[in-house]
Order: sequence, then structure tokens, then C-alpha cells
Amino acid sequence: MIVFNTIKNLQATLTKDREKGKIIGFVPTMGALHAGHLTLARHSLATCQRTVFMIFVNPKQFCSDEDFSSYPRSLVKDVALLAKVGVDYCFAPSVEEIWSEGHETFVDMDQLSRVLLGKQRPGHFRGVATILAKTFNIIGANKAFFGEKDFQQLIIVRRMVKDLAFPVEIVGVPTCRDPDGVASSSRNLLLTAEDRKAAVVIPQSWRAVERLYHAGERSSKRLLEVARKVLEKEKRGKIEIIDLRNVETFANVEEAIKKPTVLILAVRFGKIQLIDQHILGSNASCIYTTE
Ligand code: PAF
Repeated sequence: MIVFNTIKNLQATLTKDREKGKIIGFVPTMGALHAGHLTLARHSLATCQRTVFMIFVNPKQFCSDEDFSSYPRSLVKDVALLAKVGVDYCFAPSVEEIWSEGHETFVDMDQLSRVLLGKQRPGHFRGVATILAKTFNIIGANKAFFGEKDFQQLIIVRRMVKDLAFPVEIVGVPTCRDPDGVASSSRNLLLTAEDRKAAVVIPQSWRAVERLYHAGERSSKRLLEVARKVLEKEKRGKIEIIDLRNVETFANVEEAIKKPTVLILAVRFGKIQLIDQHILGSNASCIYTTE
């Protein structure tokens, strides 16, 4: 595996790959790798001939300096894991390499980036969309891989790619979960042992909703009530988002659910917000790790 720190060197190599007709896959991440990231890498390796795996903690998507500086970082360990999985290129630029002085161009959205998580973290999705637009241009990948856990992010990326005609296919990959059902996340590393244990209430909540939906319940009010009831049992967690949205448009759902719908959850444990999602009616929407 080759590790690139500069845009110029990465592009020189990718130009040669493209001339040879290689299909290029892109996995953008902020590092502190877990099973979910490695699953994204494996999806890219299985369908592309070159995989560029980015590790870049993007300051423009954090709402506070504290959050940015406390984000977990483990570059040496991450690089070793990627090499083991067989990734071709790791792109690990510095902040200065990506955001040169005087940068003032951003990608923003009218609606999608301002609801749910976007409302709670103003400017977050603007930072996400801008780093992705920039790296799509740098890498010129054929496919880019994103976890379904960050469902709103996935919807936003798909919208941006469509609106701005980026020539890249966006591939959504099912959420990877720890054996207790908690979604794999770099933020799990920041939880206390008690909070990590308590976080199991999140998958318990969407499973209760799924059972009811499976039994024929279609009232969104009733399904949301059940999600809340389960989450409220765990006093360590502060509920921040419980919502049902259309899987494709992310529009609010009607009282009686008729179209494919996703349940979005965000719960705060101490300073750490955990997010999760479940597409109603889907049993196989996740991959469990064996660790
Ligand atoms: O999901 C993430 O880790 C980040 O939001 C992303 C897509 C790498 C952009 O910085």
C-alpha cells in the first residue's frame, strides 16, 4: 500500500491508473478505523481495481474546536489495518494540504443539510459536502462508498452528486454492528464503559419498532412512541433525534406509512452523540462483527 500526503502525488499515480483503464474506488473516512470502515474498503476492493482510502479529520465539519481536537486519531494503526486488508492507496493529507489559506468556496444545500442532525450541528453538512466535492474532484473515482449508519449524510451525498453532476456512483453499505447490536462508530471509543453498555438501548429501540412494523403497524405516531418508550428506559442516554423519513427523499412521513421509510435515532451519552438508523421492513440491513 502507498500512503500519499499530497494531492499532486496521488493524482500523478491515479492518472496512470486511469490511462490503464483501472476502475477507481474511493472510501472517504476520518480514520480511527473500525469494522465498518474495513467493510467499506472490502466493498471497494471487490468491485474496483484501485481503492483510494482517505483518512482526514476534516475541521470544516466540526461545530466546535473541542470536538475537532478530541476526535480519535490512530493513523499508524489505521495504515497497518488498511495494508492488511489490501487497500492500494491511503490518502492522508494535512489540513493545510486540503484547506489552503483564503479558501472560501463551499457546497451547501437548501433543505437537507438543515434538518435533524444538520439543525443540531449547524454547518456540519456544509463541511461534509465541501470536502466530498473537493475530493471527488481530486480523485476522479468511479465509485464512492458510504455507510448507511450516517443515513442523512448518504442522502446528502447522493443529492449533491445528482445536483452538481459529479460523474461518480455512490454506493451505500449496510451498517456494521458490534455483537450487541450497537452500530460500529469511531465515537464508541470515546464512551465510558457504562455508557457503552447503556448504548445497547439504541438497537433495542429500533428492533422494537421493527417488530411492531412487521406485525402490521403503520401509524408513524405509534411507531415513534414505541421507539421513545424503549430509549427512555435508559436514563444515561439523552434522546436527541427520533424521526421517520422517506428513504429516498428524506421527506417527513405521513401519519400512515405507505412508502419505504427509515427510522433515524440520535442519543447523547455524556458528551458523545451516537446515531443509528433502521429501514423499516428490512431484516438484513446490517452486518454483525464477530470480535
Ligand atoms: O463520515 C465521515 O467520516 C465524514 O463525514 C466524511 C464522509 C469522511 C467526510 O469528512
